[in-house]
Amino acid sequence: MENTAGQLQINNVTKRFGAHAAIDQVTLEIPQGKFVTLLGPSGCGKTTLLRMIAGFYEPDTGTISLDGSRIDQLPPHQRSTAMVFQDYALFPHMTVRDNVAYGLRLAKVAKPDIQRRVNQTLDFLGLGSLGDRWPNQLSGGQQQRVALARALIVEPKVLLLDEPLSNLDANFRERMRWELRSLQQRLNITFLYVTHDQNEALAMSDWVAVMNAGHVEQWGTPRQIYHAPNGAFVATFIGTANLREATILRREREHVFVSLAENMISIPTLEASSTNESVLLCIRPEVIAISRIRRDEANVNLAGHVTRLAFLGHLTRYWVEVAGEEWIVDQPDPGSAEIAYEGDVILSFEPQHVHIISSP
Ligand SMILES: Nc1ncnc2c1ncn2[C@@H]1O[C@H](COP(=O)(O)OP(=O)(O)OP(=O)(O)O)[C@@H](O)[C@H]1O
Ligand SMILES: [Mg+2]
Repeated sequence: MENTAGQLQINNVTKRFGAHAAIDQVTLEIPQGKFVTLLGPSGCGKTTLLRMIAGFYEPDTGTISLDGSRIDQLPPHQRSTAMVFQDYALFPHMTVRDNVAYGLRLAKVAKPDIQRRVNQTLDFLGLGSLGDRWPNQLSGGQQQRVALARALIVEPKVLLLDEPLSNLDANFRERMRWELRSLQQRLNITFLYVTHDQNEALAMSDWVAVMNAGHVEQWGTPRQIYHAPNGAFVATFIGTANLREATILRREREHVFVSLAENMISIPTLEASSTNESVLLCIRPEVIAISRIRRDEANVNLAGHVTRLAFLGHLTRYWVEVAGEEWIVDQPDPGSAEIAYEGDVILSFEPQHVHIISSP
């Protein structure tokens, strides 16, 4: 089943439904053998893009290539891609074995070969004992594996997965994340995975394309899109962010000075930014410490007032008003602090944890 090809090139692809562009001039280079995720809110075009790659929709403009050859004109079964659908779409009138054999029968593979490869694939995915069952005799997780087996048996170069875990309970979903990730590494084929769940995207992916309204907003590693979002959309879609408008007052060597909540702060950055430029400052809730007292002068210190809080088990989230604006602050390990903060507090964070977003 091992395969080392699978570099996918999506070049300036647009797909309209009526006047609405579900995918609008998208260009993406999906590297071979990586776990790549399309992440974005409902309706942003994820399924539409996947279906164009699989061959179920035709792009209006643009090209799709695999290992340097165009595939966008080929029928689905000649593309070396396979797709796992969100609802699994197993054939209800076929046993597990026949479901898995389907793609090989379509390709007119010889009967003994089909039998051998079906057995191999069922064993590979831990389904060996379930071959004679019907889909309605399987749990959701088992159905999901059968759907995977049916896709993998054709030995695709690229496996396309459309929110395959969304029907599973939270604990099982977390285990399956890990299983899919290690499956991808064992097979060394390209996985293109669709989700609107940011945690899933961060936990599983080598690369993430954050999508919004038919566009790719940002391409990056999980750490890049979390720590260095390129705009307000990515900053707020991936996790929670305190975003503050600010103006660059001046630059001094490797620092810029900005004014924030009536304080002048100095932020270490090498990124180019010009005096008087309007920027957004992105400060994640977990880099902010909250206290009643104070103040480490090496840090940014902001005086505020707790307006509400929520105990979330592994942390306590505070909403704090600072100079008329609301800040969100996460405090870890609330179990060790018997008393929650209320009233007047000091928020404190290190300047290097402020990420500057240019040209908001
Ligand atoms: N066959 C279709 N005919 C008309 N409009 C469509 C069709 N398929 C999708 N759309 C529209 O295109 C846009 C993108 O849909 P798509 O299914 O790709 O979104 P998605 O990102 O997969 O969303 P979700 O996370 O909810 O699955 C939506 O506005 C949707 O209504
Ligand atoms: Mg979808």
